[in-house]
Amino acid sequence: MLNFKKEIAKFIANAVKLDENELESYIEVPKDSTNGDYAFPCFRLAKESKKSPVIIANDIKEKIVLDESIIEKVEVVSGYLNFYVNKQKMASEVIGEMLKNEDYGKSNVGNGKNIVIDYSAPNIAKPFHIGHLRSTVIGGALYKIYKYLGYNTIGINHLGDYGTQFGKMIEGYKLWKDEYNLEKNPIDQMMDIYIRINNLCKEDEKVLENCRNNFKKLEDGDPYCVELWEKFKQLSLKEFQRVYELLDSKFDSWNGEAFYSDKMQEVIAILEKTGKLEESQGAKIINLEDKGINTPIIIKKSNDSTTYATRDLAAILYRSRTYDFDKALYVVSYEQNLHFKQVFETAKLLGIDEKYTKGLEHVSFGMVLLPTGKMSTREGTVVKLEDLLDEAIQRAKTVIETKNPELENKDEVAKKVGIGAVIFNDLSNSRIKDEIFDWNTILNFQGETGPYIQYTYVRTKSIIEKSGNKFEEIQNSDIFRNIKLEYLQDEEAQNILKLIYNFEEILKQVTEKNEPSILSRYLIDVAKAYSSYYNNNKIIVEDTDIKNARIFITYATGKILEIGASLLGIKMPDKM
Ligand code: ARG
Repeated sequence: MLNFKKEIAKFIANAVKLDENELESYIEVPKDSTNGDYAFPCFRLAKESKKSPVIIANDIKEKIVLDESIIEKVEVVSGYLNFYVNKQKMASEVIGEMLKNEDYGKSNVGNGKNIVIDYSAPNIAKPFHIGHLRSTVIGGALYKIYKYLGYNTIGINHLGDYGTQFGKMIEGYKLWKDEYNLEKNPIDQMMDIYIRINNLCKEDEKVLENCRNNFKKLEDGDPYCVELWEKFKQLSLKEFQRVYELLDSKFDSWNGEAFYSDKMQEVIAILEKTGKLEESQGAKIINLEDKGINTPIIIKKSNDSTTYATRDLAAILYRSRTYDFDKALYVVSYEQNLHFKQVFETAKLLGIDEKYTKGLEHVSFGMVLLPTGKMSTREGTVVKLEDLLDEAIQRAKTVIETKNPELENKDEVAKKVGIGAVIFNDLSNSRIKDEIFDWNTILNFQGETGPYIQYTYVRTKSIIEKSGNKFEEIQNSDIFRNIKLEYLQDEEAQNILKLIYNFEEILKQVTEKNEPSILSRYLIDVAKAYSSYYNNNKIIVEDTDIKNARIFITYATGKILEIGASLLGIKMPDKM
């Protein structure tokens, strides 16, 4: 597609004899389209030339020679040059690209770059909670979007499958295994054992000692302990897998914390050599105060066991060697801000290339709040994720029952709508914000929701079918070959065309900020733009030329919603 920004930069460059690329980087897309399709802020040039932005703007306007088949006109508004794209050109560019390319917006800008995304990462023998859901959904969307832009993307599920708590689990199991049937309801049963043994440890120093020994044995590869640990892990994974199936989550690696058990020695040895490792009350720590971090990082505890942080350091070393990453993203709640600050700072001592330490990024996100308050493990208000997803499906089904009782495959549709609603809700606001989880809001077909996106998509599909075409085949049919561009010049059609034209740019912004909500908001904009188009324009009219132009707008909207939703991990129903 023609790059309008570049074209504008060329026109300006010819007028002012400055570097085209630099000029291009200054060009903005105004929020309000009455200020043109693109704007050039002249204050950017004011410093060097010592003239006021208004004078520069008028100067450039005098000298600039536009090709009107690309840029229709330019206006000066208080120090800005506002450019208006030729409307027919906008339409023909979008039509050309849409018809050429099944995967509209797909690109290879990321070719040759490796992106590691660490996401989901639930803990073995503990419930998969709603915080892990956010990580799974945000990480999953980033994974798909980076891939679509040509990056080599590696998704890692850094399972919490290690640590002293497993020594306790083993002890509890030894003591009470006859009272439990782990196969039946694994996580609940294991949680129960864990809570019980924890209480016993508080009363009985000797039990605690046994637990510590168990973990030591596990680390040393004792067959019985390893076997039990494997069992806990398998049972947990089986339960997690059901959630991953509902969400359609995929990972390239399942190397969890335990994978690093034999890789921490090297980290400790390297840190030892830097001279920064200090003894403190029997533990080994690094003081990071001079780096502005007031809490030291603990590398080894006083009982000689390693820590979560040490395993993350070993993982950085391993991932730099194995994946040669350009970026390593950690999609983890903001509760771990301090942890990642410490780990990323300490990683600079590992002697790895700067490229790696610069590529580390904590993609943090806010809490999920129920209308009644925070969800947490400690206070016992945990909502189990599987229950939550099942409830979403049930509630979606109730809505569908009332709205469209005749619908076929109600269960399948309810699954797509219910899960889609939960996913979209997780992605619809800037990730760092706390999110309020409210059923009525997220399932509202008319709100800024997943179901609204799906509903608009389904509408575009049914209109196309009503026109006697098939959505899947229309791209290659003849009706789009000779679209009369003059019927795509009105403001409402242009709004949609411009949005579609910007799709690639939106995806790029998502990867620059690691913010999938940019795409969700965009999809809402597309759906709204279409709703207003649809309300003001009858699509299937007598006049074939007008009809075909409107069907194109309808098709293009549906297609963008379909691609965008699938990049977020949302599946589209055919009808709803
Ligand atoms: N298992 C951890 C938790 O539930 C998240 C792990 C995130 N990834 C990492 N490399 N630290 O809190």
